[in-house]
Amino acid sequence: MHLRICIKATFLTLLDKHPDKLDCYHKAMFEYARDDYKHLPELIDFSVHKSVLDCGGGYGAAINAVKEKFPQIDCYLFDLPKVVEKAQVKNIQKIGGSFFNEILQVAEAIILSRVLHDWEDEKASLILKNCFAALPNGGTLYVIENCADKINIDLSLLSLNMAVMCKSFERTFAEYKTLCEQQGFGFQKDKRLNQLQTIFIFKKL
Ligand SMILES: C[S@@+](CC[C@H](N)C(=O)[O-])C[C@H]1O[C@@H](n2cnc3c(N)ncnc32)[C@H](O)[C@@H]1O
Repeated sequence: MHLRICIKATFLTLLDKHPDKLDCYHKAMFEYARDDYKHLPELIDFSVHKSVLDCGGGYGAAINAVKEKFPQIDCYLFDLPKVVEKAQVKNIQKIGGSFFNEILQVAEAIILSRVLHDWEDEKASLILKNCFAALPNGGTLYVIENCADKINIDLSLLSLNMAVMCKSFERTFAEYKTLCEQQGFGFQKDKRLNQLQTIFIFKKL
């Protein structure tokens, strides 16, 4: 019964109706995300940017790590209004909105981490289209995702989980690359963040 509700409504729309569960979900994600992103500012030299926006950044684990290492950068946390209002971040500007509508043009670089895997191709493409519109020419997009073909870990069960919870799936390196290139992004390079995740670096050409 519960499973059927999830498939019909998707996990995220279900959370939307339960503020206490939404907060719990984001707190849990923030705790493991802090660990996942602790080496991000060592792997990527964000100092080449004056400003960075974390799109769908949840409670801000990734952008916190960037701001801590590069305090001179103007940092923005963008997520749904009810999420950013509860995020506790320091010296980071919070912006509430939907990445399906508009992402404000405030930053030279956008981090899009663990967002695309929540959505099927059509919606993922819309998010990327709005990221493209929000960046200046020459702006940078950092996509961080699990790539089934970049690691020695079988992601089939995780992908099944995403299908049940979000009607989405884990993609391969080539699938993410194609999705971003279709929206006009030029692929620069990729780096391994940790055991699971790959950082894709794209430019708005
Ligand atoms: C899987 S979480 C990833 C969070 C964070 N980037 C991380 O890696 O820990 C997906 C995020 O997308 C946000 N999100 C979902 N729908 C959104 C929308 N329409 N506009 C902006 N953010 C949204 C969620 O609130 C959540 O924070």
